[in-house]
This record gives sequence, structure tokens and C-alpha cells, in this order.
Amino acid sequence: MSKRKGLLLDQQGTISAAVQRLGFTDWDFLTLDNLDAARKALSGRPPLVGLVVFDSARSWPARQLESLISRHQIEWIAILERSLMQDGDLAPLVARSFHDFHTLPLDRERLRMTLGHAHGKAVISRAAAEFPQHPGRFGMTGSSDRMQALFRQIERISTVDAPVLIGGESGSGKELVARAIHSHSDRKNGPFIAMNCGAIPPNLIQSELFGHERGAFSGAHQRKIGNIEAANDGVLFLDEIGDLPLDLQANFLRFLQEHTIVRVGSTERVRVNVRILAATHVDLHRAVGEGRFREDLFYRLNVVHLKVPALRERSDDITLLADTIFNDNIHQKAPQVRGFSSEALRAMQEYPWPGNVRELINRIQHAMIMSENRLITSADLGLPQAQQEPDTPTLDEARASVEKEIIVSNLRKYRNNVSEVARQLGVSRVTLYRMIDRLNIVL
Ligand SMILES: Nc1ncnc2c1ncn2[C@@H]1O[C@H](COP(=O)(O)OP(=O)(O)OP(=O)(O)O)[C@@H](O)[C@H]1O
Ligand SMILES: [Mg+2]
Repeated sequence: MSKRKGLLLDQQGTISAAVQRLGFTDWDFLTLDNLDAARKALSGRPPLVGLVVFDSARSWPARQLESLISRHQIEWIAILERSLMQDGDLAPLVARSFHDFHTLPLDRERLRMTLGHAHGKAVISRAAAEFPQHPGRFGMTGSSDRMQALFRQIERISTVDAPVLIGGESGSGKELVARAIHSHSDRKNGPFIAMNCGAIPPNLIQSELFGHERGAFSGAHQRKIGNIEAANDGVLFLDEIGDLPLDLQANFLRFLQEHTIVRVGSTERVRVNVRILAATHVDLHRAVGEGRFREDLFYRLNVVHLKVPALRERSDDITLLADTIFNDNIHQKAPQVRGFSSEALRAMQEYPWPGNVRELINRIQHAMIMSENRLITSADLGLPQAQQEPDTPTLDEARASVEKEIIVSNLRKYRNNVSEVARQLGVSRVTLYRMIDRLNIVL
């Protein structure tokens, strides 16, 4: 059987010698006396378990040690004199960053068990980490029914060249969907130009879209190619299309009908081949009803309509997204943070997420940096505390319910003959009567 590998950080080497004497035949320990060597040793395929010997409370530089040991999926065990656990700095460090600790003198049996537990736990966490992290498609995370339906729609839409109107709340992933359509369509080698109509001052939108000739207006020192022309042979993504001023909507409609543009200050018509993907977080149909959006343009853009579901409508995906975001930001976290508490995961399920995935990303990034806990809590995320979990029965309750079931079914079988049932169940009549009483069984 191949030996389990462990790392032993021991400056004096005394514990290492003592561990060797314990003769753990199934373990092979690499002993190192400094953190630089440890860092190098961990850069390959690191062991699953590490032991750190503390000769004194300050024997290792705390920050460097913590940053080293938080970086790898290794379960760490501290070895120290019991008195050191009174130290105000060391005890919290051990509690935060270590799987367990072992006090001196070494107790062979206890150390063997601690090593075994740590190894088992490390095997599980490493297997979990190697599990595919990004269930989903097109660079989007999600496995809920809603997202799978969206993936199927994106797939179908990518193969046609029609305009698409993408609806969905703020931060739900509309731009990501537009990029997915582009990168899976025949236009994938052409440009993807994104433009937010809501973020550009109305007097500049025309030249942003159509471009201008030199001298077209004061400040137009050079000819400028507009976004429509820049997106030639590719995709123009118009975010917040509802913010396009009414007069420009007419110009834009003309471009959609004729596939030509005229730069501001020019008379020349330029032919362009651009697919339009537009997004809106407002109800564009209502904007049409209220006279803020041209009906003819609406129908032109809305040939295909996609709706990105709000995060609260796909709460099945929240844990998956949270883990993905956690792993994407693993290098920017407080060293002791290891993941989410189950309470935090429940709080995330219960919260309505008005800012959708973007809000989820922001809250998790903040919590990963600021949390002082090993497992992020709802408070770290700035969310209301989760409701209590439905009570799981205690062992006593579970045992009582099984006992009751067995006694009742036997009483039924032997027509309430207590002596017979007692014999069948291997207890005395007195005991059986006591149980019938305690379990509130009606004879
Ligand atoms: N399913 C997803 N998987 C992974 N990341 C996602 C997913 N959906 C959205 N995101 C991320 O969330 C953020 C917001 O997404 P995006 O910008 O596409 O939203 P939006 O709907 O365009 O927002 P807005 O309405 O504010 O323009 C981005 O960082 C994006 O990468
Ligand atoms: Mg957007």
C-alpha cells in the first residue's frame, strides 16, 4: 500500500524525531524547518495533511504562516505545549486555520486518529474542489431549469441572424447572453461592440452611433467612425435601448431597414452588415404604450425575444454561483476564510436579490475580504439572518419513533397480547409496559 504523505514543519527537529519513533508505518513525513522551503514543497502536488510544531507562541511569523497554510487544500494540525493554548494570539490562529491540535507529550493513539481524520477530510475537500466547478454553458454558470431553457434558446438564436431583444432585471446577465450569442454565431470572428445608450449624453449619441466627418460640429476635429460602422461584420450590442432619444430612434430604424448609415456631416451612404442585439431592463412594450418608444422600432428589434430570469427565480443556482464566485476570487480573501456557512447559504436562498448576479458577486467579494470567520456568515454578506432550519429529530426522538413503530405493529400482529409481544421483542413484560406508557401507546 502506498504511504500517506504528510508535511511536518518543525524548527528544532525534536518532534520530527519523536514522530519517527512512533513508527507510523503508513505515513511518510517530509520535515522542513522554514516557511520558504515549505512554500516550495507545496508548489507541486501538495500532501493532504500538514503538522506545524509551535515551540513558542511566536515561533512562526503568524501572517506568513497563515497565508501559506490557507492557500492549499491541506488539513493542518498544530502540535504545541498545552500552556501555549492560553496565548491570546496563537489560540485564535489555531482555531481559525487548523483542523485540530495536539498537545505534548505526543500520544501515539490520539495522534494516529487525528492524522486519520485530517486525511479523510482532506480527501473529501480535494475531491469536491476537483468536481467540475462551472456547470453551465456559454461562460454562464447555472443548472436550474430556467437557465437550461435559456441555454437552449441561445443555441437556437446563435444560428440565425435576426435582431434579438434581451430583457431582464439589472445585473441578471443580459450582456453575458449577448456575448454568448455573438461568440456562438457565424459572426464570432467579427467585432462585438457594446454601447450603453443610457450612459451617453443625448447630444452625443448620434455621433457615437453613426460617426461624424471632420468639422461636422464644433469639436469634431477628426473623422470618427461610429459604433455601427465599427461593428461591421459583427455585432452591435445596445444596452438600455429604451434610453435612445425619440429623434434618434427614427434614424436607427432607417439603418435597420436599409442597412446603410450616413455619418454626421456627410451625405454619403455607407453600407454596413451588422447584427443588432439590444437589451433593456424596462418593459419596452409599456414604453411604446406611453409614447416613449417607437412602435415600429420595437417590432423591428423584437423579432426574437429573450428573457434572462431574475436570480430569485433560479434560486437552485445560488449555491453553485456562490461557490463559483468564491473560487474565482480565491486570491483576494482574508486568509482564514474557507467557504460559506450553511446559515449563509440559506440566507442567500431567502434574499430576493434586487441587483441579481452582480449584487451576489459584490456581496461575496466584500465578505471574502472582510470576514473574520472561517465560514462566511449572513452578517458578513450584509444579509438578514436565515430562518431556523426545520428541526432535525434528535437521536432520542428518532429512536423513540422507531421503537413506537415496532411495538405498535407487533401489538397489532399479536392482538394486544403483551406477553407474546414481550417475548417476540426480547424484553420483559414489565419493561414492555413501561415502554408502552412512555411512548403513549394506546392498547
Ligand atoms: N449566469 C451567470 N454566471 C456567471 N456570472 C454571471 C451570470 N450572470 C451574470 N453574471 C455576472 O454578473 C455581472 C452582471 O452581468 P451583466 O453585466 O451581463 O448583467 P446585465 O443584465 O447586463 O446588467 P445591467 O442591467 O446592469 O446592464 C457580470 O459580472 C456577469 O459576468
Ligand atoms: Mg448590462
